[in-house]
Formats: sequence, structure tokens, C-alpha cells
Amino acid sequence: MGKHYVDGIADIVSEKVNIVDLISSYLPLKKTGRNYKALCPFHSEKTPSFVVSEEKQIFHCFGCGASGSAISFVMQIENLDFIDAIEQIGDRYGIDLDEYLVKKYDTKGHEEQEQLFVINKVAAKGFYNNLKNNKGAYEYLVNRNLKPQTMRKFGLGFAPDEWDFILKNLRKKFTDNILEKSGLIIKRDNSNGHYDRFRNRIMFPIFDIRGRVIGFGGRVMDDTMPKYLNSPDTPIFNKSFNLYGMNYAKNYLGDNKQIVIVEGYMDVISLYDKGIYNVAASLGTSLTEGHGKLIERYAKEVVLLYDSDQAGIKATRRAIDVLRPFSVRVKVLSLKDGLDPDEYVLKYGKDELQKLIDSAQDAMEYMLNYYKEGLNFSIKSDIIEYIDRIRSLFNGINNTIEYELYVKRVSEETGLSLSNLVKELKYVKKIEKENDKLEEVVLQSKDVKLYQRLFEIFIHERSYLDLLKKKHDFNEFHFKILKEVTDFILLYDEIDINKSIDVLSFEEIEMLKIAKNIDEYIKVSNGIREVEKMYFELLLSDKVRLLEKIKEESTRVLSNIDKDSSKYSELKIKYAKLQHDINSQIAGINKKRN
Ligand code: UTP
Ligand code: MN
Repeated sequence: MGKHYVDGIADIVSEKVNIVDLISSYLPLKKTGRNYKALCPFHSEKTPSFVVSEEKQIFHCFGCGASGSAISFVMQIENLDFIDAIEQIGDRYGIDLDEYLVKKYDTKGHEEQEQLFVINKVAAKGFYNNLKNNKGAYEYLVNRNLKPQTMRKFGLGFAPDEWDFILKNLRKKFTDNILEKSGLIIKRDNSNGHYDRFRNRIMFPIFDIRGRVIGFGGRVMDDTMPKYLNSPDTPIFNKSFNLYGMNYAKNYLGDNKQIVIVEGYMDVISLYDKGIYNVAASLGTSLTEGHGKLIERYAKEVVLLYDSDQAGIKATRRAIDVLRPFSVRVKVLSLKDGLDPDEYVLKYGKDELQKLIDSAQDAMEYMLNYYKEGLNFSIKSDIIEYIDRIRSLFNGINNTIEYELYVKRVSEETGLSLSNLVKELKYVKKIEKENDKLEEVVLQSKDVKLYQRLFEIFIHERSYLDLLKKKHDFNEFHFKILKEVTDFILLYDEIDINKSIDVLSFEEIEMLKIAKNIDEYIKVSNGIREVEKMYFELLLSDKVRLLEKIKEESTRVLSNIDKDSSKYSELKIKYAKLQHDINSQIAGINKKRN
């Protein structure tokens, strides 16, 4: 949102909140001497080691080490970032944070947004209260097997069969203009006045990540179309950035930080009702980059659990594509008999569904199977077609072990030799690379010797490669020599230089060849530390070389631009920043090395 608060906002907020008071609203605190004690909410324990100091206004867990201020407590327990956390505390303690906003921010738009939040909240309350008085609506939800506490948790309500329920109740406090902006009322086409958008529908308030109502979905109770009516996009509601149920789900992602993504309101609610809590919905729209960002912020693993109809299958594929750039592991689960998650959990029960979720298929696996459809691998042209289809999938894999695994798999199913397959898969990548000036490498001779020695070790004492890989991410290097060569070494039990010609650069092949053909291998004498030392040495020269490249490039580019133009200063800053970044990386490596 580009929102900025003044420096020191943390102190300002902290001053107005008592940490004991705040934490007590989450867990029972017990006074012990001058401090307060509780069972730690951040790890499981039987005797309390979670301590809150009123004096110092901090908490600390002596069991798991969690600690911090009131704000960091809210950040951790609610899974919020800093801005969201202070705003939530502000909401709760009536602190007007607006006065601390750094100017520039559009305060008029901001006021309007605040009003819309209030309107939605009041409306949601109104709908919720109606549920008690409307037997049909309440019965409908009971028949959908929801417990009363689930209805309450999700704030489910009812919009009566009237044209002016919202108008009547909200006009007293809000203008028609702002009510119209909320999407709750609609302007009449050819006469003056407005009418309610939602009539005779079960109402689902849509919450943002902080639990504020930002919009509504309304469902008919019979087969009338459309089944669901939703709030239009408003200044506070944008479907592409919000996942329904995420405000609850984010607190239940568990140790493996897993989120299950479903399509509909009822799927989220029904699964929650039955005890599966880490579920959020994209509300029938396809997953967007905005959703991806939101997911990445909280989760490490996504299980796509879409309806198993044609539309759902299509949405799944698109979602896999959208999620590819994000650092989340993507899995796919399709349910049998064309059931949606809600129907499935009702028919087969929670445990059965949980089992399926736990054993969901990797997205890569899913896509490979998908691309295989209709092909016959005893026909050569079908194999070529298959490789063409899957190439981009492979280019998207950053993890060498995974790469190796799937290359072997495809080699087995198609009968292509590993080396031919790898060559085919890398074909496009290599061409792309040659266009990229920054990728050209000129190694210094001391680095060549080091690489050779490392490859020697990897070939003769493979365990050091495994160890090193476990401890370090070879992608840290800008020039991917180490990664390319070790990928190759890992792929084969026997190093065959001829095969390496297909996939490695000349320089790489040369080094590998010398490493393989040494007369007498000298064992590592100082264990993994010796290997790591070489690794850091090479990483350092990698960065130094990158720095040189960037300097060269910046001189070249800048010499062609007018010094007085804004583009010049913009680029100058960009290059300076790049260099600064690399310099601090270098400093970091030096630190680790020592
Ligand atoms: P579904 O048709 O799968 O509905 O649409 P559902 O969630 O399973 O609901 P029930 O079980 O029939 O009550 C999935 C989602 O697509 C959006 C809604 O967000 C819905 O939850 N949708 C669907 C609409 O917005 N409008 C529609 O008319 C239908
Ligand atoms: Mn359904």
C-alpha cells in the first residue's frame, strides 16, 4: 500500500499498550513475583517457561527462546507483518495511527477506506443478527452440517428478502454515495434512489488478513441463479489480493507451513467445521500473482485442492504456473467422483481427507502426467513432443536433487538415454545464455585449480559433495560452474567425459576431465572444513568477478547516455546499489569464512 509511519512509531504504540494486558487477551497469565508466567504459545510444553515482564514490557520464553515486545508478540501470534500488527493494536486500543502517517499518503482515500470498513462491519453484524430470526436461513446452514460455533466464527448471516434492509439501517449514519461505494447498495437504473444488492441470501462476510470485513458473498438457498453474488471490487476489496479464510488459516499452518487452497466459501467453512483449519479459498477466480505473494508470505507448501471437474483441472494447471516463481512447494490433490472438498469431507470424513492432503502429489509429477496424456512413447515423434512440452518445467527446477530425480524418471519412461535427455532439456537454456553478456566467465588460474581440486574430491570422495550440498546453496554463485558440474556428477555413477560435452561448457569439461584423470588422488586431510574453505574461496572470487562485470557494464552503458538526463542518474544509482549489494555479500562471506 506504500504506507509509511514516522520513525519511532513502534515506541509510540508500545507506550500506549500494556504488554500484560495485551498478552492476557490471548492466554491466561499468572502473576509470580514481579513477573507473569504462562505456557508458551509458541512451542508445546507442560510447565510454563513463558514469562512476561510488566516492568520491562517484554516477553521471553526460556524454553524456545521466543521473545520481544508487545508488537512482536502480536506479529508472531497473529502472523502479521509490522505495519499490520501495529494497525491491529491501534484498532484494538483506539490509537489513532493516522496522525503518524508520513505525508504523501492519500489521507482522503484513507478516510474513505476506514469508513468502508465500518460500513461492512455494521452490515455484517446486521446480517448475523438476522440469522437467529430467520428459521429458513438457519436451517439451511444446519442442513449443510455446520455447527453453530462455525457459523459464528465465520460470521455467517442472512440478508432478508427486502429491497432496503441495508438502506434502512445504514442511511442514518452514512451517505448514499459511500454506501454505493461499499457495493452493498446499487443505484437504480432509470429513477432516483438505490436498492440493496443482497436480498434473500445467506451472507458470507469476507475478511482480510487482519480480520476486517472487506466484502461479502451471498448464496441463494435454492437453485436460483446466480448461486453466489459477490461484492464488486471496492477501494478495500480486491479479489486478486485476498484469499478467503486466510485470516484464520495463517495461524494453523503447522510445522511444515502448509496451506490448502480450495475454490469456494463452503469448502473453507466446511473443512474448518470438521477440523481441517489450514484452508483458504480463491473464491472461484483463478489464482493470481497477488495471491502468490500472500501465500509466500505465510506458507512454504501449497496443496491445490480444486474441484475435480474440467474447470477445476484447468484452474489447477494455471495455479501451478502462477506459483512457479514463488518459493513455495506446490502439491496437487484431485478428489474422486467429481466431489468438491466440502462434499468429500461430508461423505468420507475428516481423517480420510487429511490422509489425502498429506499424500498429495508433487506439482511436477502432476504436470508430467498431464503432458503425457495422449502420447505413445513407442512412437518417436511423441517422445519429441513430450520433451518439448516438459522443457519449461525442467528449466523451472532450481533444486539439483529434484532435477536429477525427474530427469531419471523421464529417462526411464521414454527410454531416452540420460545424456541425450539432459542435452535436449538444456537446449533452449544454452541459447538463451549466450545472449547474456553478464554470464560470460573468465576464470583466474588459481580458481581453475581450486575447481579442479574440488571436482577431484567430489569424484573420489562423493560424501563430501553430499555434505557440502546439505550445508550450502550452490545457487549463491552467480556463475553456475559448481552447480552445473555437480549436477552432472550427481547424475551419473561413472563420470563419462563424452557425456559431459553435451551439457557443460568447454571450461567446465576441461576442469572435470583433469579432475577425473589425475594420476594419484590425495585424500582430504582436514575433513569438510577443508572442502568448505575452498567453497568460500571460490564464492568470493565469484562475487569479485561479478563486481568487475558490473563495473564494466556500467561504464559501457553510462558512456552512452547524456550525463544530465534523469535516466543517467537513475542508472548510476542502480549500478551503485548493485555494487553495494555485492560488496556487502562479500563482507558476509568473509565473515562466514573466518
Ligand atoms: P462452487 O459452485 O464450487 O460453489 O463455486 P461452492 O463453494 O462449492 O458452494 P456450494 O457448496 O454450492 O454452496 C466455487 C466458488 O466460486 C464462486 C464462489 O466464491 C464459490 O464459493 N462463485 C460460484 C461465484 O462467485 N458465483 C457463482 O455463481 C458461483
Ligand atoms: Mn460445494
